[in-house]
Amino acid sequence: MSEIAQLKIGDKTYDLPVIEGTEHEKAIDISKLRDQSGYITLDIGYKNTGATKSAITFLDGEQGILKYRGYPIEQLAEKSSFIEVAYLLIYGELPTEQQLKDFQYQISRHTLVHEDMKKFFDGFPSKSHPMGQLSSLIGALAAFNPESLEPGLSPEIINLEIIKLIAKMSTIVSWIYKKSLGQKVNYPQNKYDYVTNFLYMTFSQVTEEYEIDPVVVSAMNKLLILHADHEQNCSASTVRIVGSSDANIYASISAGISALWGPLHGGANQAVIEMLEKIKADGGDTDKWIAKAKDKNDSFRLMGFGHRVYKNFDPRAKIIKKACDDILEKLGVNDEVLSIAKRLEEVALQDEYFVQRKLYPNVDFYSGIIYRALGFPTDMFTVLFALGRLPGWIAQWKEMKENKEPIGRPRQVYVGATNRDYTDINNR
Ligand code: ACO
Repeated sequence: MSEIAQLKIGDKTYDLPVIEGTEHEKAIDISKLRDQSGYITLDIGYKNTGATKSAITFLDGEQGILKYRGYPIEQLAEKSSFIEVAYLLIYGELPTEQQLKDFQYQISRHTLVHEDMKKFFDGFPSKSHPMGQLSSLIGALAAFNPESLEPGLSPEIINLEIIKLIAKMSTIVSWIYKKSLGQKVNYPQNKYDYVTNFLYMTFSQVTEEYEIDPVVVSAMNKLLILHADHEQNCSASTVRIVGSSDANIYASISAGISALWGPLHGGANQAVIEMLEKIKADGGDTDKWIAKAKDKNDSFRLMGFGHRVYKNFDPRAKIIKKACDDILEKLGVNDEVLSIAKRLEEVALQDEYFVQRKLYPNVDFYSGIIYRALGFPTDMFTVLFALGRLPGWIAQWKEMKENKEPIGRPRQVYVGATNRDYTDINNR
């Protein structure tokens, strides 16, 4: 018999069904609670609230486990490619050789963006943040793909929009970078795979031949895989909730990009490097900065530490830390901020404040050091996170549509003024 939870309010008892997921996590289903009792639940920040049933990503924050469609992140990071992981997340299964070829071919047919999109760049101030540009440009794609606005799209058209988004995202990201340098943009080259093509468009100069470094291609694949999905985080929930209003996929993803921008979410990778640079400029005294992070009268937080769900090592941080050592060694880069980061981690992991609150390094703690070693400027880091997260957002959006989820619309407990009579402006 399935489990039932009971809620007692006054002299009434309500039976609430208990739902069990495939990994045995349990939830109390309160979807009928208001109808039955007149009560709602209150959970600011959704710390205890499941918004959906999802079959995409499983994570266990207590044990530090992360799996995409059942496959452990460690195996995917070691053996897979970003485009294969994108296929897995969006369609649910690892592709056969032919399916992967077809997927890559379709993407390569859509990497060009409308020439008029280039005009947007002239309107952005030259130093404007790449995340603001990315969110506007992805939203603008809806204007160039009006078929995406039609209600009740067929699965074929939806799939076409998905392919277009993945294809055009890498071109747009590379162009944002090129424009920030005042350089001529590069057009995609269909002979390259997705990640190589992105690196080519980003780093190739008109003046010389681009040499593909397999170390860089492999590092980029790994970073993008590690960022590809993370279940119902702030940006994925944003994508689902915007999409639930039947907004088109470009508008939904553009909203997700805006959500990712914040320093408490994806923007943390930029904030980590800025913090490490500040500590370096201040003489590298990590104890002083750990003390600042612990001081409740100081707003400083140790960026790249702590996570809403992981109360153990973020498994992605473990992989990235090792990759960071390998890549810097292979590329012959000696970055002093890496030793500051390692010292900070070592001290924090033994400090009572961090231990008690279960604060561990998260995915952003070391990723920026790798991006920097690959040649990316700091303000591009969150854009790279978005490039990696795109398949996850698409998978979440597609699942929400396929499950025919209703429009997302939370309730509230009103605590404002009750009835008041309007006072004329002269009498206030
Ligand atoms: N440095 C110092 N103290 C911290 C930190 C930190 N990085 N993170 C949490 N704490 C403390 C809080 O002050 C609080 O202490 P208290 O109980 O004495 O008041 C306690 O730990 C719990 O913190 P909350 O903010 O309540 O935890 P929450 O789950 O809401 O926040 C978050 C998680 C936002 C990630 C937080 O840990 C943080 O701000 N970290 C730094 C930013 C960061 O790295 N973000 C990236 C997250 S990963 C991602 O989005 C891709």
